[in-house]
Amino acid sequence: MSLQSLLQSRLAAALSKVGIDAAIGIVTPAADARFGDFQSNAAMVAAKVQKKNPRELATSILKYLQVEDLCEPPTVAGAGFINFKVLDSALSDAVNTVRSDACLGVSPVPNPKTIIVDFSSPNVAKPMHVGHIRSTILGDSLSRIARHLGHCVVTDNHIGDWGTQFGKVIYGWKHLLNKESLEMSPIEELVRLYREVNALEEHDPAIKETVRGELVKLQQGDAENLEIWRQAVALSWNEFEHLYDLLGITFDERLGESFYNDALGPLADRLLSQQIAKESEGAVCIFFPDIPALEDKPCLIRKSDGGFLYATTDLATMEYREKRWKPDAVWYVTGAPQQLHFEQVFAVGRKMGIATDLRHIAFGSILGDDRKMMKTRSGENVELGGLLREAIERALTVVAEKNSNLSKSEQEEVARTIGLGAVKYADLMQHRLTDYVFSWEKMLSFQGNTAPYLQNAYVRICSIFRKAEVEGIGIQSGSISISEPAERALALQILKFGEILHAVLEDQRPNLLCLYLYELADSFHHFYEACPILKSEGGIRSSRMELAGVTSKVLKTGLGLLGIGVPERM
Ligand code: ARG
Repeated sequence: MSLQSLLQSRLAAALSKVGIDAAIGIVTPAADARFGDFQSNAAMVAAKVQKKNPRELATSILKYLQVEDLCEPPTVAGAGFINFKVLDSALSDAVNTVRSDACLGVSPVPNPKTIIVDFSSPNVAKPMHVGHIRSTILGDSLSRIARHLGHCVVTDNHIGDWGTQFGKVIYGWKHLLNKESLEMSPIEELVRLYREVNALEEHDPAIKETVRGELVKLQQGDAENLEIWRQAVALSWNEFEHLYDLLGITFDERLGESFYNDALGPLADRLLSQQIAKESEGAVCIFFPDIPALEDKPCLIRKSDGGFLYATTDLATMEYREKRWKPDAVWYVTGAPQQLHFEQVFAVGRKMGIATDLRHIAFGSILGDDRKMMKTRSGENVELGGLLREAIERALTVVAEKNSNLSKSEQEEVARTIGLGAVKYADLMQHRLTDYVFSWEKMLSFQGNTAPYLQNAYVRICSIFRKAEVEGIGIQSGSISISEPAERALALQILKFGEILHAVLEDQRPNLLCLYLYELADSFHHFYEACPILKSEGGIRSSRMELAGVTSKVLKTGLGLLGIGVPERM
């Protein structure tokens, strides 16, 4: 049991003795270290219910609180907080437990769930925009964390591989295709076709008609068009896969929108016959008279020309997933502008009798220096591949400067870890709903809340161990003994790891883990400055080396859960 839970159970016992609901006895890390290490506002909460004086109530709780083995006598502060200052011995025991625990103090969730994470989901032949980049990074990290806590996670890349864009692509393929470019960079060429045909259509209604005709032919199963479509999807997927490899991201499923095509017609018919949907002006719609926010926002599932929509595919997808996985939850990691879409789709899902916890994990935008949606200099959507290549190149410049003694290939390897880590971390450290300004300088800086700063803390610990080895210094006792304030602070921070991952999943917010790791690296640097490690002797040296060792494990594991690697040197 963690120190925090231990204190909590003792507090609960005391609360029951004074007739207070034990569930109120929440203990949290202290907000201000001057007052102690842990605190509880239980007396304040109970006083409100019982209409009593909170400080007096706190004092009477203290009489029954038995924690002599764990802390100094607890005190009452402020409006009725109960504060705990943990004994060095108890703190040492607690970090030693984490040190010898393969899970570093993280316990799995008591009731694991099956969670489908629908993320990344770029569209074939349409420019991938920064929204897809955020979805990819955020979805991957959330999946890793959920899995780490014991949930059964299914990652599904819901690729947009079917849609009106294929009318343009097929027309472009037949009339404007540059085979060489297609081979060199397929997505770029497909996007070029899409854009050019888009422009042509605008000025020429006849072309617009032909483009529409190509789409209809595709939908009706025309062999030539189907073949072009197949190639376009395969080429794009190939290129996407390269990026996912580079990013270290994998998917359990990649059932694109096209997978659900055959289910759309029967689904619409069923919704009609079940009277969930209605015919309205030739189209099929679902109305929500009972949901105020959607009262005047019906969900269209079949257009009057017979075409289906994004929402129809999502409903078919939902049904398929229910059957295939029986999920407890589905997380859709998609930008905030799709909020209405998901509100509608979820509402229809409930009408269809789906009780699964469906969540739109929304996020804000990445902005350029001008605080508008990030674009390239020529005003186009930022392409993920180019962005990652630039990150690695920039990191290489920094690495070559700082560490010219590494071999060229080592430098490249390190630059990859730093560059990719920087991009991912810059994204994940933000509250997912806030927009943030993309800045190479900031994200690649070795100072501040950045991936390189955290990676550097890890590297520093590695180099301590390398130096120890060179000097023939080994670890003797194998146990940590805490006494200095900087050691205390670091140990307490390490103990928080057990709680933080659970907190992340409460509201799908990896930024909490980022902040935690940043504070951990910070506590380590303070410890490193205040407490000599290799220059100490005997048991103290050994204990400090162990403490540094646990720190590095937590850093590596935590960064790994963000999808970020650590170099051994940099
Ligand atoms: N391809 C969509 C887009 O680019 C995102 C798909 C998200 N997932 C879903 N099940 N709707 O906007």
